[in-house]
Amino acid sequence: MLDSALTHLRSPVDNQTSLDLEVYEKEGSHIVEGLLTDRVNDVWFPIVRGVPVFLMGELKPDFSAFLDKHKLSQRLGVETKAIKTEEQKEQSKTNKTFSDKWTRFQEYGLSPTHQEFLYDWYCKKFAVDSVEKLRALFASKSRILECGPGSGFNSRFMAENTDGEVYALDVSDAAFTTYGNTNHLSNCYAIQADLFDGPFENNSFDLIVADGVLHHTPDTKKAVFRLYEKLAPGGNFFFYIYRQMGAARKFCDAHIRDAFMHLEPEDCYKACESLTDLGKALADLGAKITLDKPVEVLGIPAGTHDVQRLFYYNFVKCFWNDAFDYETNNMVNFDWYHPHNAWQHTEEEVVGWMEELAVSKFQFNDSNPNGISCFLTK
Ligand SMILES: C[S@@+](CC[C@H](N)C(=O)[O-])C[C@H]1O[C@@H](n2cnc3c(N)ncnc32)[C@H](O)[C@@H]1O
Repeated sequence: MLDSALTHLRSPVDNQTSLDLEVYEKEGSHIVEGLLTDRVNDVWFPIVRGVPVFLMGELKPDFSAFLDKHKLSQRLGVETKAIKTEEQKEQSKTNKTFSDKWTRFQEYGLSPTHQEFLYDWYCKKFAVDSVEKLRALFASKSRILECGPGSGFNSRFMAENTDGEVYALDVSDAAFTTYGNTNHLSNCYAIQADLFDGPFENNSFDLIVADGVLHHTPDTKKAVFRLYEKLAPGGNFFFYIYRQMGAARKFCDAHIRDAFMHLEPEDCYKACESLTDLGKALADLGAKITLDKPVEVLGIPAGTHDVQRLFYYNFVKCFWNDAFDYETNNMVNFDWYHPHNAWQHTEEEVVGWMEELAVSKFQFNDSNPNGISCFLTK
């Protein structure tokens, strides 16, 4: 953590109180071990391995070794006031998936082949027609929050393209992977926190990005509303969430999730290989078919379909893309079937949320059939 982060970090208890900093160990300009204290609400947050950890209640890890090491046990003791919520319990189940995934796939999104694929997709998600325009959008922002950065590849890209600051907040151990991939940048801050308890003042960011994140929280709508509070008037908020799928895909997904989501991550990766092999075999065919009529009962539109995509979008997640190696393709399938929370939504639902929030300016960008890309202005 860089000292400069303190200017904008606030206690997640009230989103207002500034934090006192104690530094125990530094590496270059980064504080790798330290303590942040909210003296008003009497709570403390450690900085470990370079990352300030704002997890609370049920999500807060056991820091007794940290307290012993820095002779803090007597002074700080056990937190008795911490409220443990049902939502935090839910979130901690989902964290198991993502702490594992982002510890294994630390390089995701960093190689040129990954970036070509991912930034082509980002252009569609943000409805711009070139990566240059994406860079220009980020350059025009001075305080960016990315929620759920995973490996941190996009936080890194945004920080490289703005003179402002990027806060990269993730609730799982992905925060440490993000830190590893961004700590060479003086304007990027990796933080471990639940987005429902983000350590920031309200109305404080001019861009918030949550790509493939909010449907993994206990409540997607509440997550949208919570982040909207953090957005400054006039600011933009982009989120990408899963779209409600057709009947056959929903049936298969429910069946497979029942079988896979309780497995240990290692076993689930193994179990996903058969789906990944199916995706590859279908992609290798390079076959297309044309449907003159839509299969309305399954939500399949008329037209020409790549056979692998037809399976993937309508029957079972059997992702395959040549831009990724076998393990990364398999991880994309794991990412769908293992997380405890993985909600799907309709555009009508999202329109309802926008109405409740009184957002007058928002659009859905056409990025792919199984997701909803929403870009709004507060
Ligand atoms: C599917 S990954 C997406 C990562 C990245 N945005 C990408 O597109 O590659 C979802 C990420 O959201 C994070 N996440 C889930 N719930 C969260 C919450 N309540 N607060 C912050 N991050 C959360 C997970 O830990 C995980 O790193």
